[in-house]
Amino acid sequence: MSETPVTTDLSANENPLGPSPKALAAIESAMVGLNRYPDRSCARLKAALAERLGVDREQLAIGNGSCELLELAVRALVRPGQSVVIGTPGFPAYRGVVQRAGGKVRLVPARSYFDDLDAMLAQIDETTPLVVLGNPTNPAGTLSGRERLMGFLRRLPAGVTLILDEAYHDYVDTREYPDAVDLQRAGWPVIALRSFSKAHGLAGLRVGYAVAAPDVIARIETGHQQFNTNTLAQAAALAALDDEAHLWMSVGLNRVGRGELFQGLAARGLNPVPSQASFILFPVAHAASLAGRLAERGVLVKRLARYGLDDHVRVSTGMPEDHCRFFEALDGVLGESEGVVAVRSACPVLGG
Ligand SMILES: Cc1ncc(COP(=O)(O)O)c(C=O)c1O
Repeated sequence: MSETPVTTDLSANENPLGPSPKALAAIESAMVGLNRYPDRSCARLKAALAERLGVDREQLAIGNGSCELLELAVRALVRPGQSVVIGTPGFPAYRGVVQRAGGKVRLVPARSYFDDLDAMLAQIDETTPLVVLGNPTNPAGTLSGRERLMGFLRRLPAGVTLILDEAYHDYVDTREYPDAVDLQRAGWPVIALRSFSKAHGLAGLRVGYAVAAPDVIARIETGHQQFNTNTLAQAAALAALDDEAHLWMSVGLNRVGRGELFQGLAARGLNPVPSQASFILFPVAHAASLAGRLAERGVLVKRLARYGLDDHVRVSTGMPEDHCRFFEALDGVLGESEGVVAVRSACPVLGG
């Protein structure tokens, strides 16, 4: 039996505009040097980031995607048996890296799709070296605003570090957003993680960076192999950083797309969650069935059982024509399967 070809992939929060043209040109120029090893110190990329962010190079680590840095930071800070506090639903990698490091995961249920920072604080004990927070979160796309996060940091026990995963940082458009790099610069015990996979459109090359105190960065960097980011990735990230036009086009497209998806889902009574990221979450009974039926029509969305949410679906922003195909497929499924795809009520308090 032949499978339906995928016409529209809205499952992985990738940049629908593609990579920056400047990054593609930089890759082409760098190709002639591929007989040489990469610059293991990522000197040019670090210098550019240091200038852009107003931090020292010693406060920066470059990784094979921000997920590598997440793993390295957890390995550097967590000893077997220690507990790490994480909000749920959340990015499954957080749980995975803690488990691989031999740590114990303490999952704290979100309230109405927002991480419950008070409950997370209450879960910290004397064996806790680390809390991991996505800001914005994946899969809800909500964020912890400045006031709530500052209240959390003020009450964070001494010796506990907060990883703030800002993979979707560029898409945020509220002034309430607390910038993790600012917090790091101000001396809070924060590790900021950022990615070139999203708004910069370089997911396939794997580049991310961490901003943290120099001693933490030194510990992170001793954990990776010497050539963890390749020549093309470094060249492309450096060029993408300089391509403000592509970044702003990506951010603008996402803002419009987010609104379009939200309104389209709301108009169908599907109670989407307002998002600050590049995707929209919505509750639906029999989510796996909905995702499967959309896939049969060539449209991929994200099933979330691994995220701790098997009654929701997440759809990434795409090009306007992707949204048309998504809604066309969705209407087809909803039309033929009343009851199978029963609409869930908005904003339940989410369980763990
Ligand atoms: C919250 C979050 N953090 C990190 C990542 C991965 O980033 P990278 O591609 O830089 O490893 C993702 C990717 O989907 C994500 O959703």
